[in-house]
Amino acid sequence: MWRLGKGKDGNKGKNMKRIIAIVCLAIAITANAIAQQAKDVTNNTSNMKSFKSTAWLLPQPVLIIGTYDKEGNPNAMNAAWGGQWDMNEIIISLGSHQTTDNLAVNPEFTVAFATAETMVASDYVGIVSGRNTPDKMEKTGWTIEKAPNVNAPIFKEFPMTLECRVKQKIDESETGYYLVAEIVNILCDEKYLAEDGKPDVEKMGLITFDPVHHAYIQLGKTVGKAFSDGKQLK
Ligand SMILES: Cc1cc2nc3c(=O)[nH]c(=O)nc-3n(C[C@H](O)[C@H](O)[C@H](O)COP(=O)(O)O)c2cc1C
Repeated sequence: MWRLGKGKDGNKGKNMKRIIAIVCLAIAITANAIAQQAKDVTNNTSNMKSFKSTAWLLPQPVLIIGTYDKEGNPNAMNAAWGGQWDMNEIIISLGSHQTTDNLAVNPEFTVAFATAETMVASDYVGIVSGRNTPDKMEKTGWTIEKAPNVNAPIFKEFPMTLECRVKQKIDESETGYYLVAEIVNILCDEKYLAEDGKPDVEKMGLITFDPVHHAYIQLGKTVGKAFSDGKQLK
């Protein structure tokens, strides 16, 4: 690699020309990038507005993660950055929280799906930490029981809950990690079962997190059949 200031005197002229060429190239690349960005932001032809890259994957879930601390006290937190990872596995992007401390001593937890009815307390557990609020769970008013298959609490007000066990922590540091967990079992309140005996998602009043306006939006009606309606166009 050619480095500035390392050539002999006789090479000074050559090096100066190289510097001028590199500076010109850098100016040309920058000008092109600025022009391209301006074109993207005001893309009038397609009536599309551009926004800089951010965490706007839609829709995002409202996951309530239930854990026990080392004394067996229950805790809950809200997580939107999570999803299905494999057939029996989920992934959650986890920061440094009371929940993280709890999982370090007891690697089992529950994931409940928040609803319009549980929304206020679900938001509350996402803005207050068990690290400095000992009565956090009392404030929610939720009915708490031990999950049948994992050492973690379930909150009875939620229609459906996954019982999970930590399988892997990816990129672990003091700021958190990506948590991969096995789904050990799925619990569904019988009130929310459909005629076929499976969970009726439409009945549950589930909410999603809107990262654009920091809002919670309730899911609506079933509008079609997956892996099926598309066949009309085959
Ligand atoms: C809508 C919403 C989404 C959130 N998503 C995440 C998330 O995906 N990952 C995360 O680590 N924290 C997330 N948080 C922040 C935690 O829920 C929050 O820091 C909480 O107070 C942690 O509680 P704890 O310290 O008692 O465990 C979210 C909070 C809200 C309100």
